[in-house]
Amino acid sequence: MIEDKVLLEDWLVACPASEVGEKPVQVMLMGERIVLFRTSEGVHAFRDLCIHRGAALSLGEVKNDCLVCPYHAWEYNTNGECVSIPQLPEGRAIPKKAKAYKFACREKYGFIWVNLAGNEPEMFSYPEFEAEDYRNIIWGPQEVNAKPPRIVENFLDVGHLAIVHEGSLGTNSHREIADYHMNWEDGRIYSDEIPIFQPDPDGSGEAKYVYYTYEILRPFTVRFTKKDKEKDQYFTILLTIRPVDENKSIAYGIMSFSYHTDNTDEEVIAYQDAIFAQDKPVVENQKPEELPLDLQIELSLVCDRVSIAYRQYLKELGVQLGTA
Ligand code: FES
Ligand code: CO
Repeated sequence: MIEDKVLLEDWLVACPASEVGEKPVQVMLMGERIVLFRTSEGVHAFRDLCIHRGAALSLGEVKNDCLVCPYHAWEYNTNGECVSIPQLPEGRAIPKKAKAYKFACREKYGFIWVNLAGNEPEMFSYPEFEAEDYRNIIWGPQEVNAKPPRIVENFLDVGHLAIVHEGSLGTNSHREIADYHMNWEDGRIYSDEIPIFQPDPDGSGEAKYVYYTYEILRPFTVRFTKKDKEKDQYFTILLTIRPVDENKSIAYGIMSFSYHTDNTDEEVIAYQDAIFAQDKPVVENQKPEELPLDLQIELSLVCDRVSIAYRQYLKELGVQLGTA
């Protein structure tokens, strides 16, 4: 397991909830092999390792709300206690040590979240997902050969929109970024509204300004809201990253619309995939791979205030993974 106290004590995304059905699922998180499985009580997370002979429990099955090892069919209940060993002669007690290692696990906002330290902290709030008048679409997985902070910072980067995403999220004619500030208030870190000129933000074919507000929620979970002031419409993307191991990450997201669009979920996802495909080669080739938290190391501009705040936030928390 990757030692990083801050991250181990947080809720980290494991996968979309829809991926955990009847069969157990193996997920790599922070260098730890985990099995997720669903019972009548919900989703549970164990270390993907049977104490008997080291088999991967994720190759087994769920039976009577127990996870059954694929090798000798030991059965573990949702607390991780072994409740059945078929090889034991009648009347023999199950050894006390026969246990699976259990992690805290929660299903929320369409995803499965795992808390490796077992301290069960408070979950961040994402009200759009629970709002009745919002349409929410789950996005990802997107595998990236980069460390999470570089991926998150790319998402928070205003200046690249008119360059990397020229023609969709910005235009050549409007590359400058108006001055704005970051607000650290009531435990929230969020930007002022930043005007971004987009060629066709609402599908009407007309170029105009929309307003982006970025917010840092957790070390690897951030969001922005794009506001169309004329139409009073809001579009939010929540980005959250699974640290797979030291060098690999998987990005997931939620796209939330306050308004109706004719696009199907598949079309919305395909569009976001195409945008992400433009960012990916940049992010996978940034050096150093670690995000420098010392603000003297790279050269920041005023328009980089969101990412500067992100670096300060990671530094204050003491996040190690993917930072330098
Ligand atoms: Fe799991 Fe033997 S290895 S029951
Ligand atoms: Co981008």
